[in-house]
Amino acid sequence: MRLKHCHCVYDFRRLAKKRLPSPIFHYIDGAADDEKTYRQNTRAFDNCDLVPNVLRGVDDVDLSTTVVGQKLDMPLFLSPTALQRLFHYDGELAVGRAAEQFGTLFGLSSLGTVSIEEISKRVKTPKLFQLYVHKDKGLTRNMIDRCKAAHFDVMALTVDTPVGGNRERDLVTGFTTPPKPTLKSLISFALHPAWAFNYFFRQTFELPQLQAYLKEGTSIPISVADYFNTMLDQSMNWHDAEALAKYWGKPFIIKGVMSVEDARKAVDIGAAGIMVSNHGGRQLDGSRSPFDQLAEIVDAVGDDIDVICDGGIRRGTHVLKALSLGAKACSGGRLYLYALAAAGQAGVEKALSCLHAELVRDMKLMGCKNIQELGRNNLRFR
Ligand code: FNR
Repeated sequence: MRLKHCHCVYDFRRLAKKRLPSPIFHYIDGAADDEKTYRQNTRAFDNCDLVPNVLRGVDDVDLSTTVVGQKLDMPLFLSPTALQRLFHYDGELAVGRAAEQFGTLFGLSSLGTVSIEEISKRVKTPKLFQLYVHKDKGLTRNMIDRCKAAHFDVMALTVDTPVGGNRERDLVTGFTTPPKPTLKSLISFALHPAWAFNYFFRQTFELPQLQAYLKEGTSIPISVADYFNTMLDQSMNWHDAEALAKYWGKPFIIKGVMSVEDARKAVDIGAAGIMVSNHGGRQLDGSRSPFDQLAEIVDAVGDDIDVICDGGIRRGTHVLKALSLGAKACSGGRLYLYALAAAGQAGVEKALSCLHAELVRDMKLMGCKNIQELGRNNLRFR
């Protein structure tokens, strides 16, 4: 299987599985506990059906939207994800450049492997920085200051990680701190020499958002769950979030809101947007899916704040369903991570091009010329 055989997210997943050593693939693909929430995030879209209209003159379709003040050419953007140079040696640069080709928002993680400054220099599309609040207050401030200096457009504070989720696939493969690779994992690394060559000889793996501030030699846990447990500030509350939003001073998003109460609090602290998200099912297994939870959140705060549906998106029709319910945009992680692992920037561009083509085609089939025309009349729940 090669890039030319990939036509949808599921094909990219298959190719990523082939090209990555299994511990790395399962780090992307896995989720918490029994992975019920992870599966439900996508299944939720099957609980309803689209109701199209016809004869509406759909020769020209406009997919653009404005979300948290950013004008995007398509209503789907790239959620921040950690450690991208593990998946492909170009990491975040490949993803950012692909986002630029499609005029959409690119999210850089606190745990990104390319620096804030390099992304700012080389990626010319709206940029979001995803903030984790560290126990070391100086580190958190340092990240915000660097984003200000680098002219990032949006800050997203992730709030669903006071502790690490229980990602059992990582325990099984030994993707832990310290690493405990099993014989099977070691064999898998040996069977992927191209990945190993690229990892060791075509890049220097770093966490520049952290390493630029931390003293040389400070050890950072390699398992993300251990990183959450040891480095993040579990005492964070809404007052702290408000202070951070003020300190940032530009559009601020709370990422990981699932309840109406929290959505209202996000409005109260002056956030420009919320990402309705359960971290792709990687944190609290058994929590509701973003799409299942979307309508009640839109009904409560949709007039006051931009609501983004994050997670589970694998098809253009998933995006159209969320927009019909009232989301301003959708976002996703694995939908581009599989493609990054499969073929770097060319892979991400192809994945976005497939999703873009699906969106245009599906909008025409729905009888809609622009996304404002999508509404609840276009959906029926079973
Ligand atoms: C993530 N996600 C994430 N979120 C975040 O706020 N900071 C981060 O560093 C990461 N890292 C990360 C790594 C990997 C491998 C995955 C799969 C996800 C969550 C991400 O932003 C987004 O919420 C989910 O990916 C959405 O679910 P889907 O689209 O992957 O189904």
